[in-house]
Amino acid sequence: MATPTAEREQWGSRLGFVLAAAGSAIGLGNIWRFPFKAGENGGAAFVIIYLICIAFICLPYLFAELALGRNSQKNPVGAIAAIRKKTPWTLVGGLCVLTGVFILSYYGVVAGWAFGYIFKGFVAPAVESSEYFSSFIADTAVVLPLFALFMLLTISVVYGGVEKGIERWAKVLMPILLTLMFVVIIRAVTLPGAGAGLDFYLNPDFSKIDGTVVLEALGQAFFSLSLGMGAMITYGSYLPKRENLLVSGGYVALFDTGIALLAGLMIFPAVFAMGQDPSEGAALVFVVLPNVFDAMPLGTLIGAVFFILLSIAALTSTVSLLEVVVSYFVDETTWSRKQSVWLVGGFTFLVGLPSALSQGGSDLLTNQISLFGQTGFLNIMDYIWGNLALALGALLLSIFVAWVWGTRQAVEELQIGADGMFSGTLVSVWTFFLKFVCPLVIAIIFGAIALGVI
Ligand code: PHE
Repeated sequence: MATPTAEREQWGSRLGFVLAAAGSAIGLGNIWRFPFKAGENGGAAFVIIYLICIAFICLPYLFAELALGRNSQKNPVGAIAAIRKKTPWTLVGGLCVLTGVFILSYYGVVAGWAFGYIFKGFVAPAVESSEYFSSFIADTAVVLPLFALFMLLTISVVYGGVEKGIERWAKVLMPILLTLMFVVIIRAVTLPGAGAGLDFYLNPDFSKIDGTVVLEALGQAFFSLSLGMGAMITYGSYLPKRENLLVSGGYVALFDTGIALLAGLMIFPAVFAMGQDPSEGAALVFVVLPNVFDAMPLGTLIGAVFFILLSIAALTSTVSLLEVVVSYFVDETTWSRKQSVWLVGGFTFLVGLPSALSQGGSDLLTNQISLFGQTGFLNIMDYIWGNLALALGALLLSIFVAWVWGTRQAVEELQIGADGMFSGTLVSVWTFFLKFVCPLVIAIIFGAIALGVI
């Protein structure tokens, strides 16, 4: 046990919490995954379904994670144990911690690519993008140091602790991110031919909506808000009682959604203006965009700016992934924060090595292993931890909060600091959503993911 008398660390201000939690939510998921998912799934129609999922499923569930965290003042394992001692439910907390390690292990690899791409325009200005990308990610001598560097950056932020590390950096990095995004958006929407991209992105064609689109949108909504692995339990555990969870959580969802929408505004006009295909898939950001930048006035600079902002967004997310695991070791063992950060960070780097080598570095890890219809170690990891584990975690945690802890207790926690704004119909609506809508809908997606529909 950490010294029981030691005060738990806390956020220094509401803004600090909101920026740190929004920083966790805003990441590769918004800027890389959201545009390519929208591009593959019909553009504006996907966006509308995504917004509905955020409002009706993810938002109610987000409040449950925050309430559980602040009530228990603990990491995901400790939070569950604080409510029900010695039950198998603590395994759900264990799943959260494991999910943190495993998502970080491959997310850090992709973040390393984004970091390396800051320099792409300067190092290889005229090389064809898709060839460049395949040889770049296959080059172990480049990818491994970048991954190591990104892990070191993550470690150094988490090392500083909640207020002096995570909060301080979020306050610096998030405004830079927003400013850089506006620079790229202004460049993108003023390109000749950008209108077709705006039309694809903003003018819905409802005939494109089918089961897959709905399921993809919901999966994306969970991943994007960092839900299902206890990140919001952990960040909520550093909140003081005076904080209004509804308002702060609402801001986090608003910022995350806003940045995803802005990312689309940054990417689709440019993609269409340059005559590229929006349904290019996972390579959209790394292959199509560099083509776009190459062909654009001031492209090298804009390209560098874009990958700087992608790296910043990824860093505030990797920080939250590491923090979930570190908070577990700090709360539940005798390890100090500093020891935990180094040990967990180092271990995660080792776990990430096969992912880093799975893009051509090692033929075994690249082509010869397949599972769940995915080929290559990194893709398999993303499928298991980024899809299955998050959906399972969200399902079990929503059942735990609604049916084991009980919505009455959760409502009481949400009412603390809410100045009477959480009462009457709002409470009944939230209770209904958490008890029935969230678990049922998540169970449906989980089933669909497990059956390979998504
Ligand atoms: N939400 C992050 C993103 O959009 C990813 C993430 C998932 C971070 C789960 C923490 C926990 O990139």
